[in-house]
Amino acid sequence: MSEKVGAEMKSIVILLGLLMTIVACQTTSTPEPNLYQRIGGQKMLHTISSQTLDSVSTDPATKRSFEGVKMATLKQSLADFLCKETGGDCVYEGETMKNSHAELAITTAEFELMVQALRDTLDANNIGTREKNELLKILAPMKRDVVTK
Ligand code: HEM
Repeated sequence: MSEKVGAEMKSIVILLGLLMTIVACQTTSTPEPNLYQRIGGQKMLHTISSQTLDSVSTDPATKRSFEGVKMATLKQSLADFLCKETGGDCVYEGETMKNSHAELAITTAEFELMVQALRDTLDANNIGTREKNELLKILAPMKRDVVTK
């Protein structure tokens, strides 16, 4: 009888040990990568920034705002901004969205064309649907600061 109780106790202790190991493994496992990491880090964000800006600055429907703008500087600034917004460890030293677009009189149509250019760039670089949607969701509310006309 007492031998049986002893064996049961032993089983319970082993089971508890197993459970604790499982819990410990779950809590110490590496966290899920953030959006910045899943997109491909700063290199991919620079590519995305560069290709999107190449598109909108040459499209007759959107190019007027970019006349006289130093595109290399803007590309770097947008890449840093996207890095910060997606959870990357970057320092964005540019203006707020409201200040940087205040004088440009950007219309809803121009804003939507830029979003489409961004979508096309994300697709061209094989960015996943989840990442694409997460990025667009972050940028969508900025419309109220960018569009002034
Ligand atoms: C959610 C959408 C947008 C985001 C996140 C965004 C982001 C930015 C960023 C980060 C800068 C750099 C600001 C700085 O360095 O101080 C910038 C500047 C600029 N953006 Fe946008 N932008 C958006 C929409 C647009 C649209 C729709 C246009 C025009 C079609 C546009 C045209 C410009 C121009 C021309 C500049 C340079 C302004 C200057 O240097 O004086 N942006 N934008």
